[in-house]
Amino acid sequence: MIRRYQFGEPIETDAILEKPELCKDAFPYMKQTEAGFTYEMTEEDIVYGLGESLRGINKRGWIYISNCTDDPHHTEEKRSLYGAHNFFIVSGGEQFGLFFDTPGKISFDIGYTHRNQIQVSMEDKDCDVYVIDQGSLEEIVTSFRQLIGRSYIPPMWAFGYGQSRWSYGTANEIRELAKNYRDNHIPIDMIYMDIDYMERYKDFTVDQEKFPNFPEFVEDMKQQKIQLVPIIDAGVKVEKGYDVYEEGIKNGYFCKDEEGKEFVAGVWPGDCHFPDMLNADARRWFGNHYETLLKQGIEGFWNDMNEPAIFYSGKAIEKVFEQIDQIARKPHEMGDFYDLRGNISDRANNPEDYRSFYHNYRGKKIRHDKVHNLFGYNMTRAAGEALEQLVPQKRTLLFSRASYIGMHRYGGIWTGDNKSWWSHLLLNLKMMPSLNMCGFLYTGADLGGFGEDTTEDLLLRWLALGVFMPLMRNHSALGTRRQEITAFDSTDAFRGILKLRYRLLPYLYSEFMKAALKNTMYARPFGFVWQQDEIARHVEDQLMIGESIMIAPVYEQNAIGRMVYLPEEMKLLRFTGDQVTEEQTMQKGHYFIRVALNEVVIFLRKGHLLPLSTGGECVADILGKDLTLYQFAQAGDTYELYEDDGVTRNMELEEHVRTIVWG
Ligand code: GLC
Repeated sequence: MIRRYQFGEPIETDAILEKPELCKDAFPYMKQTEAGFTYEMTEEDIVYGLGESLRGINKRGWIYISNCTDDPHHTEEKRSLYGAHNFFIVSGGEQFGLFFDTPGKISFDIGYTHRNQIQVSMEDKDCDVYVIDQGSLEEIVTSFRQLIGRSYIPPMWAFGYGQSRWSYGTANEIRELAKNYRDNHIPIDMIYMDIDYMERYKDFTVDQEKFPNFPEFVEDMKQQKIQLVPIIDAGVKVEKGYDVYEEGIKNGYFCKDEEGKEFVAGVWPGDCHFPDMLNADARRWFGNHYETLLKQGIEGFWNDMNEPAIFYSGKAIEKVFEQIDQIARKPHEMGDFYDLRGNISDRANNPEDYRSFYHNYRGKKIRHDKVHNLFGYNMTRAAGEALEQLVPQKRTLLFSRASYIGMHRYGGIWTGDNKSWWSHLLLNLKMMPSLNMCGFLYTGADLGGFGEDTTEDLLLRWLALGVFMPLMRNHSALGTRRQEITAFDSTDAFRGILKLRYRLLPYLYSEFMKAALKNTMYARPFGFVWQQDEIARHVEDQLMIGESIMIAPVYEQNAIGRMVYLPEEMKLLRFTGDQVTEEQTMQKGHYFIRVALNEVVIFLRKGHLLPLSTGGECVADILGKDLTLYQFAQAGDTYELYEDDGVTRNMELEEHVRTIVWG
């Protein structure tokens, strides 16, 4: 049962499709206080959820603030990332899930101020709170996910490997890259196009000099079974004559400042206006612009800078220039320079800027900070709704950086600008189940790390985790060491791991589709499966992926393997490249498992099957091919395989599930 409580006058977020009637009973579990709500935890309570946030699977011991932020330094002390996922579950003494539906800033102090207390507080006290407290942990998640609606499902080619870089600057560079992969038989399905494909960073344009005959180029790549996936940024460049800018001005579709003038913010293109993503008309208009690229053959997009990121606001930069002018006219004093420096470095994503522009939301003027966490969500909704109209017969790849629960219906997310750090490999693993709880299934991190220089072993180990992530993309920042697979010596090891991804696809796709269509988890923490096992409940570096397999990736440099905990008897499958080189049944317990850099070890649960394809170099290669079955099963054990054409929007479960019986 789901109960809905209301506090104050919440602003609509559209996170929930059908709202249950308001409950008039006393609010359960949490005590209402001046600042918000508190809950007294028992020692054994574990707190799950909060989607894209730092730290552990168990969120205890830190404070998390939902405030979509463009911060590329995901260090331990941070409190906010790009998403606002206000759902958590307490499991231990009592067991319940809570969703705080509020579009502004909200803070979750999970045993930070007081070790055994949860404090939820928000600036505006207006929110709807949903309480779910029946059934197992999985059932709580399923009830919540039913409430928020079915998760986004991409086309099947989007489960292939994607290569990205900020930026491939010309069509020739991309052709070269594609040739390199294909010549070396390294599987690939996507090449991502970062901001430099555009003409002066203007959304929906393509630089004709660097990418001449773009439609032909896109088609050429498709012939090689490679989809090009361009980035779309939230800010629209202020430039006379640029159609998107002119239309936005003419129709009043941009966010306005206090005086009713278009708000100016600096992002990659320089001065920009933000389309008012909360205004339904503006959303329709912006979404329809994706057609410009669809018409040129594009079938996938990634939406970026949609927190929205602000490097500086027009007004703030004017003040800086005034300050420089003043300093220049008088005898120089030390303090002036420190002031100036502070003023410039504090400009990015400044709360003052977020308080100085407005939306036209459902006919009302509303200040941005009140609905801040809905911006990226509604940009992706603009795209998602338009794509459904423009390409009704096909699924389109779409994912975003900023998000709020509700956006999971329109697109996936990638977890933003991580770094080439071993700790971020582990963070990638920990975030995955939390994201699933909040409806985000098509997700992944920048494999190898976005910022800073990667190393060959980090990339190999990260890909060995990435093979299990629905969105499998290697992306790296401008100025960092080249991170394409072909940039390293161990081509065979890389090829082997990527080939394993393609062998695993029938299983991974089936598990993803079942999770999406049945509102279940794709990646589960051990506490969801072995709740009575004290050790299992506290495992933070192993996961169940789908129903059959458990993973325990290596996340330390120079490690020759790692300790693994088996909460029950399992079968170890060692893959050297994409071939099984060892099968061993192991009893419950702790083991040191050796894993070489070219290997991936998978543990099969008892009573389960693992269907593998024979492999291929793109998703199209594996469709409809014979399967090899690995198993830790007895005659009569079954597996539900999901198969469809991978493209159309016809994804009914019953029509596409085939039961495989062992023995
Ligand atoms: C942002 C994105 C990153 C992208 C860069 C340039 O930092 O998060 O993925 O490469 O912008 O567009």
